[in-house]
Amino acid sequence: MIRSTVTGIGSALPKRVMANQDFEHIIDTTDEWIIQRTGIRQRHIANDDETTASLGEEAARKALESAGLEPADIDLIILATSTPNNTFPATAVDIQNRLGMHHGAAFDVQAVCSGFVFALTTADLYIRGGMARRVLVIGAETFSRLLDWEDRTTCVLFGDGAGALVLEAGDGVGLTSDRGVLAAKLRSDGCHKSKLYVDGGPSTTKTVGHLRMQGREVFKHAVGMITDVIEDSFAVAGISADDIDWFVPHQANRRIIEASAKKLGIAEEKVVITVDRHGNTSAASVPLALSVAAADGRIKQGDLILLEAMGGGFTWGAVLLRW
Ligand code: UT7
Repeated sequence: MIRSTVTGIGSALPKRVMANQDFEHIIDTTDEWIIQRTGIRQRHIANDDETTASLGEEAARKALESAGLEPADIDLIILATSTPNNTFPATAVDIQNRLGMHHGAAFDVQAVCSGFVFALTTADLYIRGGMARRVLVIGAETFSRLLDWEDRTTCVLFGDGAGALVLEAGDGVGLTSDRGVLAAKLRSDGCHKSKLYVDGGPSTTKTVGHLRMQGREVFKHAVGMITDVIEDSFAVAGISADDIDWFVPHQANRRIIEASAKKLGIAEEKVVITVDRHGNTSAASVPLALSVAAADGRIKQGDLILLEAMGGGFTWGAVLLRW
C-alpha cells in the first residue's frame, strides 16, 4: 500500500528576537508571569520585509534541500496559515511562484493552530489517493500582525515562523512498522468561536482585525480535546502511548503540553518542547518543533511520532507518523 513518508524538513524564523523583558516596557507584565503561566521566554517577530510567504518559502527551500529535491519534483503545495500575505490569492500560490514552480497546484488550509495537522492529513489523502506523489506541506505564520499590542492577555503569547515537510509516496505493507503517516484524526466545533477568534475580516468589518482570546476558557477545553483525539488516533492505528518515541505537540502553553502528556502516560523525556523559544506560532508550531528535534538528532528514521494541535474554531487533531 502507499504510505506518505517524510523525506525532508526545514524551518525559518524571523531575525528579530523579542524577550519577555521587552514587554515589561510596553504593557503591565513581567518575565516571571509569562514564564510561570506559559513557559515562554522569547519569540521571533517578523520585520516588515519578512512575511508568511517569505518565511514559508525559506522553510520550503530547506525542506527540499534536505530531501535532495528541486521544486520541479513537487506536485502539490499545501500551506497551513491564518495570516496570508493577501486575502487572496492563496499564499501557497505565492510560495509556488517564489520557488519558480509553474506546474502542479497549490492551496492554503485554514485551521488556525491546528492548520499543520489538517494540511498534513490532506496531503496524506492526496498521496494515498494517487493524486500526488511529492507534496510540500508548510505551516507559516506572522501572528504578530494580528496582535493587539496593548492587550497583555494575548500579545505575550504568540510569535512568527515557518516549518515545512516534504511528503513522498512510499511503499508500505499496512503494518504500524511502515514508515509514513499511520493514522490521523481531525475535529472541529464552531460553537467555541467566541473563545478564540479575530474580530475582523473582508466580509464583515472589511479589515484584518485583531486576535481575541478568553485564555482561561481555551485552557479549560484544551487538555480534554487533545487527549480524546489522540486516543482516537491510537485506536485507528492499533497502538498505545507506550509505543510513542516522540510526542511533538502544538506549542501554546507548557502547562497544557505537560498535562496532556501526563494524562496520556507519555514520559516527560519523550516530549518535544519549543514554546520557550518560539512562543505560540500557530500553524508553524508543530513543524518548527519537529525541525528542532530532527536537527538535534532526537528524531531518527523509524521513530514513531505523535503530533497534535488545538486552536481557534475550535479545531483539533492528531497525526501518528513513523519517521
Ligand atoms: O493555540 C491556541 C490555543 N491557545 C491556548 O492554548 C491558550 C490557552 N490559555 C492559556 O495558555 C492561558 O489561559 C493563558 C496563558 C492565556 C493565561 O493563563 P491563566 O493561568 O489561565 O491566567 P488567567 O487568564 O486566569 O489570568 C490570571 C491573571 C488575571 O488577573 P486577575 O484577574 O487574576 O487579577 C489576568 O488579568 O493574570 C492576569 N494576566 C497577566 N498578568 C501579567 C493576564 N495576562 C497577563 C500578563 N501579565 N501578560
